[in-house]
This record gives sequence, structure tokens and C-alpha cells, in this order.
Amino acid sequence: MILALLIACAQTPTPAASPAAPAAAPAATPVAIADPVGVPQVLAAPVAGTAFPAPATPLHTPPLAEGDGKDKVAAYCSVCHATTYITMQPPLPPEKWKAEVEKMVNAYGAQVPEAERAPIIAYLSAHYGPDRR
Ligand code: HEC
Repeated sequence: MILALLIACAQTPTPAASPAAPAAAPAATPVAIADPVGVPQVLAAPVAGTAFPAPATPLHTPPLAEGDGKDKVAAYCSVCHATTYITMQPPLPPEKWKAEVEKMVNAYGAQVPEAERAPIIAYLSAHYGPDRR
């Protein structure tokens, strides 16, 4: 029931946007199973074919912005973690992005060739600096 409420809250307010919304789905069939102690537990069986509705607001930080250097960042900076680590940061000035890239290389062992670092730092500064957000 709580799950159904959460899903209902996450739905877009647009009517008829998601015909497969859980509200229209048949009620979950309770299934009684016995636990090892013998006390029956009732679980809601998953409704087959129920699609998760698209949320009204994004649940993720956005993907990398378009621009020169995006491909390099996508290639070198998604080896160990998602690029959302970048897009979720507060706006950082160029020297902070430079320090961040150096930290990835020196502290965490990111394999970023010398020649690729400047374009990466330029991209990060251009799209994720204080004057852009
Ligand atoms: C070798 C693995 C590795 C690579 C490659 C890598 N990172 Fe990271 N990154 C990490 C680790 C480990 C953390 C810390 C994760 C944590 O604290 O949960 C991190 C965290 C971050 C953070 C969060 C802030 C912080 O300092 O903890 C940012 C921003 C970031 N990385 C940017 C980058 C960028 C930009 C690149 C590409 C130049 C990159 N990372 C490549 C390992 C890597």
C-alpha cells in the first residue's frame, strides 16, 4: 500500500499520460506464505506487466552537457563512477576542477593521459562553473 502511494505521488499530473498507471492495474493479490516459525505472512504479489510511470520531476541529476570535451569526460571519468558524480557537484571554479581531476589521477589512480587533462578541465569549468548555474 505504501508502495502504491509512493508511485501515485511520483506520477505526472498530466491525465491520460500513462495508461498503465498502477491505479488502473488490478489490485495486488495477497499471497500467504509460511515463515520458518509457522506464522503466516501476507505479501503483496507483484502485478505482472505493471510499468513504472515516468516521474513528474527528474530523480537523477542530468547527463553531461553537450560541448567540446564531453566525449573525453564520458570516456575517462565514468570508469569508476557515474558521471553524475560530476553533475551533482555544486558549481566549481576552474582551479577546483583542476584539483578534482588531479585528485582522481593522484589519489584514486585514474588513467588520464597528461594531454587529455586540459581539455577535460576546460569542459568541466565551462559547463559546471559558477557562471553556468
Ligand atoms: C580510478 C577511479 C576513478 C576515475 C577514473 C575517476 N574517479 Fe572520480 N572518484 C573516484 C573515487 C574513488 C571517488 C570518491 C567516491 C566516494 O567518496 O564515494 C570519486 C569522486 C569524484 C567526485 C566527487 C567529489 C570528490 O572529490 O569525492 C567527482 C566530482 C569526481 N570523482 C570527478 C571525476 C572526474 C572529473 C573524473 C575524470 C577526470 C573522474 N572522477 C574519474 C574514482 C575515480
